[in-house]
Amino acid sequence: MFNNFFGLVAPDLAIDLGTANTLIYMKGRGVVLDEPSVVAYVNEGGKKVVYAVGAEAKTMLGKTNRNMEVIRPLRDGVIADFDVAEEMIKQFIKKVLPRPTLISPQIVICVPTGATPVERRTILESAQAGGARRVHLIEEPMAAAVGAGLQIEDPAGCMIVDIGGGTTEIAVLSLGGVVWARSLREAGDKMDEAIIQYLRRTENLMIGDSTAERIKKEIGTARPPDEGTGMSMPIKGRDNLSGVPKEITVTEAMVAEALADPIGKIVEAVGQAFEQMPPELAADIYDHGIMLTGGGALLRNLDVVLQERISIRVSVADEPLLCVVKGCGIALEKLNTKEGQRLITSDV
Ligand SMILES: Nc1ncnc2c1ncn2[C@@H]1O[C@H](COP(=O)(O)OP(=O)(O)OP(=O)(O)O)[C@@H](O)[C@H]1O
Ligand SMILES: [Mg+2]
Repeated sequence: MFNNFFGLVAPDLAIDLGTANTLIYMKGRGVVLDEPSVVAYVNEGGKKVVYAVGAEAKTMLGKTNRNMEVIRPLRDGVIADFDVAEEMIKQFIKKVLPRPTLISPQIVICVPTGATPVERRTILESAQAGGARRVHLIEEPMAAAVGAGLQIEDPAGCMIVDIGGGTTEIAVLSLGGVVWARSLREAGDKMDEAIIQYLRRTENLMIGDSTAERIKKEIGTARPPDEGTGMSMPIKGRDNLSGVPKEITVTEAMVAEALADPIGKIVEAVGQAFEQMPPELAADIYDHGIMLTGGGALLRNLDVVLQERISIRVSVADEPLLCVVKGCGIALEKLNTKEGQRLITSDV
C-alpha cells in the first residue's frame, strides 16, 4: 500500500520483443500490453518526434505523408534500428507503468537462439535504455515451450517450432535446456511478401503489407482446398500496368499457391532438424510430437501439412501468440528460485 502510493519500486516486467508484436507481462498481474512493434514519427523542424506507437502507429503503415515515417524497428527477429527500438520499449513501459518510481523494474526479455552476440547485446542494452534496472535474457524457444506448458525439465526431448513475424525458431529442449536449435529467417513477414509477389505476378495487382497480412489471416491456408477454390474475399489495390485502382476476388486456392514456397521452406527446415540432431532425441520427439507456437501457428492447415510431410504428431499450443510472453512471465515469477535461474541464459 505504501509502495503503491509512493511508487517506490516498479513491478518487474517480462517482455516478448517480437518483429511483429511486443507483449509485456507484469509480475503478479499477467499480460498487460499486446501491441504491434511499430513506431510513427513526424518531422518537426528537422527533428524526429514520436507521433504514435503500437496499434495506432500500425494503422498508419503505408499511408503516411511526406512529414511522417512509420518504422518497424525489428527485422528477422532482431533489432534493425536501435534508437527506434529503444524509444518503442520506453513508450510501452510508460504505458504499463505510467507513474514514475524511485526504483526501476527488473526485466526478463527474450532473444532468438540465432541472434549473434552483438544482436543479443543490442536487445539487452535497448531494455536497459528503455528503463530497466537489471535485464535477464531468455532464449525464445525456451520461453515458448514453458509458455505452451511443456515439461522442459524432463530428460525426454521435446520440440518446439515458434513461427513469428520475422523468424521461425526450431528447437529441441531436454533437461531444462536448449539441446538443438535453428533459427530460420522465414516466417509471417515472408508469407505476406509471397502474397504480394503472387498478386503482382498473376493479377498485375499491387497491394501493401497490411492488405497482404489481412488476406493471410482471413483466408490463408497451408494447402489448397479439397474442392474448388474455397473461400474468397474482394481485395482492392493498384493496377500495375495502368496505375489506377482496381478490385479483384482473391481465393483460398490462390493464397495456398502463393504460400507454398515459404511454407515449403519451413516444413523442409523441420525435416532437416531430424537429420541433424542426435538419434535419441529424434526418437523422443517421434513419441512426443511437435508443438507449434507463435502467430504463424494460426495459419490454417499448417499443422496438418507438417504432420503429413514428416509423419510426426503436430499440435498447436493454446493461444500461440501468447506463449513466449507467458514463458517469459513464468521465468520472471520464478526469478529468485533455482528453477527460474535455469530458464535465464548467460549467453550474451
Ligand atoms: N490467423 C493467422 N494466420 C496466419 N498468420 C497469423 C495469424 N495471426 C497472426 N499471424 C501472423 O503471426 C505473425 C506474428 O506472430 P508473433 O506475434 O508470434 O510474431 P513475433 O513474436 O512478433 O515475431 P518474431 O518472434 O519473429 O520476432 C505475423 O506475421 C502475423 O501476420
Ligand atoms: Mg516471437
